[in-house]
Amino acid sequence: MPDFSAEWEQLQSRCQDCTACGLASTRHHVVFGTGNPEAEILFVGEGPGENEDLKGEPFVGRGGQLLDKMLAAVGLTRERNIYIANIVKCRPPQNRDPLPDEQEACIGWLRSQVSLIRPKIIVCLGRIAACRLIRGDFKVTRQHGEFVEKNGIWMMGTFHPAALLRNPAQKPDGFDDFRRLREKIEEIGERTELVYPD
Ligand code: URA
Ligand code: SF4
Repeated sequence: MPDFSAEWEQLQSRCQDCTACGLASTRHHVVFGTGNPEAEILFVGEGPGENEDLKGEPFVGRGGQLLDKMLAAVGLTRERNIYIANIVKCRPPQNRDPLPDEQEACIGWLRSQVSLIRPKIIVCLGRIAACRLIRGDFKVTRQHGEFVEKNGIWMMGTFHPAALLRNPAQKPDGFDDFRRLREKIEEIGERTELVYPD
């Protein structure tokens, strides 16, 4: 168990009861996150979709399967090497983009997750996360795969898995970003065990 496990549990249980924005009234589950909170790589998506809202876990639909495949291609698994969370923890109705007010209300939970996990790398999945965490005018099509260092953390934005499912022509670029992630992990000497794909 991580040495911050008590704080982590406490944070998670406080988040489960959050009613700080309007999304609380339509959610089935708060989706706090999943993976290994001791990992040094944090993935951040935008917000839960329908499947995630019903299950209480991020990226469990088709997009999640693609994400797992891309992770596996570079020797990573969500159980062992990464933690995955979202900008907003409750599902926006009809999967609309989370509103600025909702993001503002929710971002404190992610900040607390970051201060406990202390990741060395943050990967933003899609525009919403990249604009929120990297820079407000981030353009995924132009800036995907580029690492920038911010407050001692290496940050990278890439395609949202759902966008890759809608537009499979971008998949090679998406996989390329994961290869760059792998290179960055090796460059900074990540401590968790990596398993090379066959
Ligand atoms: N899309 C996201 O951005 N996050 C999820 O958890 C699921 C789908
Ligand atoms: Fe709270 Fe975030 Fe859910 Fe809004 S989206 S109710 S701020 S946990």
